[in-house]
Amino acid sequence: MKTTVADFASMKRNGEKITMVTGYDYSTAKLIDSSGINSILVGDSLGMVMLGYPDTISVTMEDMIHHAQAVVRGTENALVVCDMPFMSYQTSVYDAVVNAGRLMKEGRAGAVKLEGGKEFDQHVKAIVNASIPVCGHIGMTPQSVNVFGGFKVQGKTLEAAKKLIEDALALEEAGAFAIVLECVPEKLAEYISELVSIPTIGIGAGAGCDGQVLVYQDMMGMYSDFTPKFVKQYAQTGNVMREAFKKYSEEVKSGAFPTEEHSFRIDEDIMQKIKAWRDDV
Ligand code: KIV
Repeated sequence: MKTTVADFASMKRNGEKITMVTGYDYSTAKLIDSSGINSILVGDSLGMVMLGYPDTISVTMEDMIHHAQAVVRGTENALVVCDMPFMSYQTSVYDAVVNAGRLMKEGRAGAVKLEGGKEFDQHVKAIVNASIPVCGHIGMTPQSVNVFGGFKVQGKTLEAAKKLIEDALALEEAGAFAIVLECVPEKLAEYISELVSIPTIGIGAGAGCDGQVLVYQDMMGMYSDFTPKFVKQYAQTGNVMREAFKKYSEEVKSGAFPTEEHSFRIDEDIMQKIKAWRDDV
């Protein structure tokens, strides 16, 4: 059964935790979807983990649409949420609606996510009024890395905490169906989760959130450039892959691969005739 934003609301009401991981391609989306995870986020983190940029700033609408399409093709049940990339919504309410529309029409996402709170409540309202579900994202918002001066925990001072609370309330008021809380102190995230009626999805925000999201390469040990403190590695897939690549390379070089098992046959008679024909040419 396809998960919807209404299911997110009922999971919060029933105290059932919401599970979300990032996904960027067809094969991985199929694996995630068949695991029973509730939602796949086509995050603009793809700029880092898929495209090798140092941050998410360079990610384009075309990148997001391209990857969303692939994920949607591999997903039957999970709700696919697609990130609005840097400068696709900050410039105006009009741009926000047009670009959210593209992620739905061309990317076939089930919802969009954008970073920021109160300062974008009119953008969120307008997108929701266009019948597009919006997930907010506050705390450590990676598109603001140049303002924050790095990937740092947010909301630790009284003023910063008040701002986060006001942002969460503004997003709820604007009609967001959920809010990602990234790198927020556990107690504050728990407090915000109790304050708002929509689900909070935490990443580095402790166990008090209504759900959790992780970047799949982080949780699978596949991205070695940087591992944040909040990541738990559930598998060492990176090591497994490296070993497999190494073995493949060794076997090709030694001639151990491919064997007959991996090869196609032709009639010996036809082969002889081919050779005779070549000899005559
Ligand atoms: O882009 C992304 O992967 C995200 C998550 C870190 C929440 O926004």
